[in-house]
Amino acid sequence: MKYLVINGVNLNLTGKRERGVYGAESLEEINASLRKFAAERGHTVDFFQSNVEGELCTAIQNAEGVYDGVVLNAGAYTHYSYALRDAIAAVEVPVVEVHMSNVHAREEFRRNSVLTPVCRGEILGFGKIGYFLALESFWL
Ligand code: DQA
Repeated sequence: MKYLVINGVNLNLTGKRERGVYGAESLEEINASLRKFAAERGHTVDFFQSNVEGELCTAIQNAEGVYDGVVLNAGAYTHYSYALRDAIAAVEVPVVEVHMSNVHAREEFRRNSVLTPVCRGEILGFGKIGYFLALESFWL
C-alpha cells in the first residue's frame, strides 16, 4: 500500500522551533524513520511539505486514486482553513489528522480543528510517534 504524509505550515522548522513542544528531530529525520518503518512492513510512503495553503489543498486533491491514505499535520491551518477542510471532504482517500503537541493543553485557539469532522480520525499529543500511529491505523 502507498501512503502520503503531508506537513503544513511551519513544520519544515521542526527540530529548530519550539523544541520543548515539537522535539529536536528535523522533519527530514522523522520522514526517514517513517519511510523505513513503512518499508519494513511492505508499504511505501511519499512526503510533501508546504507553507502554502493552496499547495496543501492541491496535494490532497492529487492524492485521490494514487494513495491508499493520507497523514496530515496541517499546522496552524488546522484551526481555520475551510479550504483544506473542503479539499479533504472532496476526496475519497482517507485522511488521518496528526498533531505532535497536545493541542488541548495549549492556547485556546488550538483546541478547535476545522479538519477533524472530515478526517477519518485524529492522533495528537504523542510527538513524532503520532505520524507512526497514523500510518499504522491504515493497516492494523
Ligand atoms: C501542530 C499544532 C498546531 O496548533 C500548530 O500551529 C503547529 C503544529 C502540532 O503538530 O502540534 O504548527 O499541528
